[in-house]
Amino acid sequence: MRKIVIAGNWKMYKDLEDVRAFCKAIASSLKTKDLGSVLPILAPAYPFLALMQRELADTLVKVAAQDVSAHAEGAFTGEVSAAMLSSLGLEYSIIGHSERRAHHNESNEIVREKLLLLMDNGIKPILCVGETLAQRDAGETQKVILDQLEGCLRNVTIYGAEDIMIAYEPVWAIGTGRTATGEQAQEVHRIIRTWLKNTYNDVLADELPILYGGSVKPENIAGLLAMPDLDGGLIGGASLKADQYLEMIDIALKSRK
Ligand code: PGA
Repeated sequence: MRKIVIAGNWKMYKDLEDVRAFCKAIASSLKTKDLGSVLPILAPAYPFLALMQRELADTLVKVAAQDVSAHAEGAFTGEVSAAMLSSLGLEYSIIGHSERRAHHNESNEIVREKLLLLMDNGIKPILCVGETLAQRDAGETQKVILDQLEGCLRNVTIYGAEDIMIAYEPVWAIGTGRTATGEQAQEVHRIIRTWLKNTYNDVLADELPILYGGSVKPENIAGLLAMPDLDGGLIGGASLKADQYLEMIDIALKSRK
């Protein structure tokens, strides 16, 4: 049975005080809750990773990075390496987010370098893929998703479904309040799962978690989680509020799996 992942991507929001307050607000309620097959993840900005690990140590929340350098080590001012993240004991990192692809010119090849460095350092990548509105309108959604998967995972060995997660994030749904319908998301999630089956194997395709991201919130998450190939959310805006984040975990607990 696949887990249901409720992953918060905090982007460049929250300072030290906000981070502390959020952790305090969720720690007590998550400490005592049986989370079953729900896996909560939170990705703050780099400066707060270690602090959040400490503040949430008594909970099942996994702290994740939002990105990683494409270089292993060296004179790269401002960069953070996979080995550094690993030395903190992090288990997950987002990579290939459309904001990085758009604002930092990250190609599939760069995302692939990051993915390999993360995997070499024992960190599970949460690999984001997604089409723009122009690409969807031009009927290119499937092609774009497959190009991204093929580019980012070219010759990448995946040993088990725990090694990596994929997040389908249609660019037109991110931060716009315009969510993909469950059916629109399911269609792409199926494409991704079929690609995994053809490229890897049936077991991996069946067990690998595929998250959806793009204006997910408490009001729409149940409908999305009801889709058979959708295993959770990568959530920006709605993950910034402790009550909404907890509410989405509760909804996930009551969902189909
Ligand atoms: P959003 O962001 O939930 O605010 O649309 C999602 C994401 O960018 O991961």
